[in-house]
Amino acid sequence: MQKIIILDFGSQTTQLIARRIREIGTFCEIFPYNKFPKDDPDIIGVIFGGSPLSVYAEDAFHPDISGIIGKYPVLGICYGAQLISWQYGGKVESVGTREYGRAKLNTVKDSPLFEGFTADSQIWMSHGDSITAIPEGYTLAGSTDSVKYAAFENREKRVWGVQFHPEVSHSIQGTLLLNNFVTKICGSRNEWTSDSFIEKTVAEIKDQVKDDRVILGLSGGVDSTVAAVLINKAIGDKLTCIFVNHGLLRKDEFTDVMENYKCLGLNVIGVDASATFFKDLEGVEDPEQKRKIIGADFIKVFNEEAGKITDAKWLAQGTIYPDRIESMNITGKVIKSHHNVGGLPKDMHLQLCEPLKWLFKDEVRQVGYHLGIPKILISRHPFPGPGLAVRIIGEITPWKVQVLQEADAIFINGLREWDLYDKVWQAGAILLADRTVGVMGDERTYDHAVALRAVTSVDAMTADWADLPYEFLRHISNEIINKVKGVNRVCYDISSKPPATIEWL
Ligand code: XMP
Repeated sequence: MQKIIILDFGSQTTQLIARRIREIGTFCEIFPYNKFPKDDPDIIGVIFGGSPLSVYAEDAFHPDISGIIGKYPVLGICYGAQLISWQYGGKVESVGTREYGRAKLNTVKDSPLFEGFTADSQIWMSHGDSITAIPEGYTLAGSTDSVKYAAFENREKRVWGVQFHPEVSHSIQGTLLLNNFVTKICGSRNEWTSDSFIEKTVAEIKDQVKDDRVILGLSGGVDSTVAAVLINKAIGDKLTCIFVNHGLLRKDEFTDVMENYKCLGLNVIGVDASATFFKDLEGVEDPEQKRKIIGADFIKVFNEEAGKITDAKWLAQGTIYPDRIESMNITGKVIKSHHNVGGLPKDMHLQLCEPLKWLFKDEVRQVGYHLGIPKILISRHPFPGPGLAVRIIGEITPWKVQVLQEADAIFINGLREWDLYDKVWQAGAILLADRTVGVMGDERTYDHAVALRAVTSVDAMTADWADLPYEFLRHISNEIINKVKGVNRVCYDISSKPPATIEWL
């Protein structure tokens, strides 16, 4: 399949460029700036992304781009444009004023990169350095009031550079620019669709695992569900799924999700290991300690079940593309590993099957819809692996879990009933350790407080508290205090991330 390569120089918007290109319908991959995959015949164009560095700094990234320029169409964005200019004899300087925010771009009329652009098109600038001279053979393609070389080109070599960020939504015609580059300049046939992905991946899974048995750990979340349905489509009952209940799921979640999985035709073994988890969590208050215990118990229980499936040859996981990009920094070193593969018994000799490893989260959802998975499963909010354990401050007891499950269910069902569920990224209730005084009827109460948390976000890296209607919050607070025994106070968390985090623990 045709693809665009994006070279990563460390900018936070590199992933966003990739998502925009995928939305256009073209497959793309991100590589560290110095790891260009030379011999791939499917490459139709290359994008150099932004960077926090100055191109003239000694420690800046200066890969040899001579094998790329002239061979493929190239688009340099911000640092990428400065790198092209700098390497071919242009000038990049700190001009004293850093340029952030909106600007109006006027382009050269017949430049193919700007076909369809209107005059004074709003763009988004974010750079401290400016290109003050472009290399020989290159021509001006667009300017703003304060930046002469906001865009330049060399049509013969098929190279374009822009100082602004077309990938962000504040660049109003940014998608048009990327579409012009990918479709008109690189000649993409835009073959990247959910259907083509499903067809290709199902064929690949069949080819990869043949008649072997595959096991997969289901979590109830979107990624593992979509992975399971996709593999099931390829190999049917040869896929065995394991769903471990650690007792810290939402109210009725274990039975509801098991039911849904069965309706999807999946072969699922449900393991209720709550008692083991509760026992090991007794007396533990420290959040990291809770996470460690849950992680270790999870691997133990999963391994026990997986070990019973003696003919299994493959372990499938719902790993998605951002998990893998995040695992690498721009120097190619692994800084975070997220798999629990290391915990599997070595003598099982399982090979890895990761059918979603190329997809962004929104693409996983699209594929899920195309596979016919019900919306209630696909549009679920993210939920942390350790479940309610990271939403109970202090020691975890079965009673506290049950209190929190009731409060959380009222909140989440309320969001659905008031048509607010899909408007927030994630929501849940937190059970506080301290008790406070209240009065109910003629009686004084001394019960727990519950905090409600609902946030908007695009990737959980940053988040803002959701502006839920007061009427709704009033209703939920009344419902929780009246119906959940053990709770006499409800608060709403109005902290953004950063500086707070989404979860309290
Ligand atoms: P924070 O609290 O770091 O959360 O802002 C960001 C996202 O990650 C989820 N989260 C977890 N997920 N295991 C997980 O699988 C964990 O220990 C964990 N802690 C936080 C959180 O729900 C949010 O979506």
